[in-house]
Amino acid sequence: MVKELRQDLIRWFLLATLAFMLIGGKLALAAQSPEQIGAMLKAMRDPAGSPFFPVAMQILQVLTWALHMVFVWTSVGGLLYAIYGLTRKDENHKRLARAMIELSKVSVSLAIVLGVAPLLFYQVIYDPLWYTSANLSASWYIMFIVFLLIGYYLLWFAYFSRKKDSLATLFSIGSVIFLILVGFIIHVVNYQSLFPEKWVEWYTSGGTTMNHSGLNIYSFNILRFVSLLIFPSIAVTGVFMMLYSWYFGKRKDFEGDKEYIAFTSRLGAKLALYAGALWIVTHILYILTIPSDWNAKGSIFTILSIVGLLICAGIIFMAQKNPIQMAIPSLLGGVVATLTIAIFREYLRVASTARFGYSIYDYKVNLEWLSPALFLGTTLTGLLLYAYTWWMAYRAGSTPKGEVYHANEVESSLGNAAVFVVILWAVVFILTGFIIVIRNYA
Ligand code: HEM
Repeated sequence: MVKELRQDLIRWFLLATLAFMLIGGKLALAAQSPEQIGAMLKAMRDPAGSPFFPVAMQILQVLTWALHMVFVWTSVGGLLYAIYGLTRKDENHKRLARAMIELSKVSVSLAIVLGVAPLLFYQVIYDPLWYTSANLSASWYIMFIVFLLIGYYLLWFAYFSRKKDSLATLFSIGSVIFLILVGFIIHVVNYQSLFPEKWVEWYTSGGTTMNHSGLNIYSFNILRFVSLLIFPSIAVTGVFMMLYSWYFGKRKDFEGDKEYIAFTSRLGAKLALYAGALWIVTHILYILTIPSDWNAKGSIFTILSIVGLLICAGIIFMAQKNPIQMAIPSLLGGVVATLTIAIFREYLRVASTARFGYSIYDYKVNLEWLSPALFLGTTLTGLLLYAYTWWMAYRAGSTPKGEVYHANEVESSLGNAAVFVVILWAVVFILTGFIIVIRNYA
């Protein structure tokens, strides 16, 4: 008897909970006016505020994202071409394909390192967007790391087996599939974050349940995905091939390889032109899919992104006749296009959240000078170090095989300055840590 009563009670309790969830969910959905969504976003902000002015974070986010994407593009584009090149009979294709595998290998590590920077700036000023969207598809987001690892290891296998065409092709195919999957997951997380008005509906399946598995993907936009990843990857890798020919074409030991250099530059210019055209078309088609209530379709930033792409396309078009001579102007055109796309992408976030009266510019600022000063010092140290390392790599790379490059006096002093500044940075960094620890215990 007691047992039956207990079972009845549990049954009623579960039914009542379900009813509450259903009614509560429906009410929650019905109650979501733009003001309430704005209030929800504000409530999700970190109460500690931002340690520096949001606009500075925003600019750094845009710049570092652009850098991140350049290496994402050469990772994916290098592999896509390698798969094609390794399956051709022509020896030029095979040779270039092996060089592109090397390009991808280096690019992935740079893309990973440079991906951390926009992530840090993004999560400081857009934490309500980033964390909610990441939680909605949390399992996928965690798998992002695993897929990235698998893609990267497969790329190394492709590199080690680059002299065995079929094996290297197989590994390259595996690698590019995983890297594109990684790009797709990050695309989903970015895209879902632009629709705060749908989060509750997604999470509760329209007010009927609660999806905690994180296994659902709620929204993606194939046009945005291909216009931000696939076509730019091929176009930018094309520009890289032009630069490759410009750089190695000048080296004495490449004198016997004139045909290979000409082949590479022509192919690069062609890839940049055709993939660039598809990039522009998909970019415009994506713009057409932006919801009208964002008031973003005719904005100056949207128009500028198209103009940036068209300027780059114009230069690449002119480069078809003499791709080696036009390699540097094409690079500059690519920089303009990438920056205008990066600004447009950020503008969309501003436009989407403005619908709910939300703005990052009124994020609480908890100004403290120590960490921004340390950040600035680290950035300047990094820039000096990178300038030196990249310059030396550039100079050493232009030395014929077998010869040793000797740094000149200015370069040696720059090297000494780079070592000194790193030591200084390490001392300041460790001392700051000690001072903080001691002050916390005092
Ligand atoms: C090689 C693998 C990767 C690929 C193919 C890739 C691709 C992409 C793509 C396509 C986007 C734009 C998505 C969109 O807006 O629709 C993006 C954005 C982003 N990626 Fe990556 N990514 C990779 C690795 C990483 C890693 C390892 C990190 C972090 C450590 C990272 C951090 C970011 C961040 C933070 C954004 C958004 C930045 C912003 O909105 O300002 N990515 N990535």
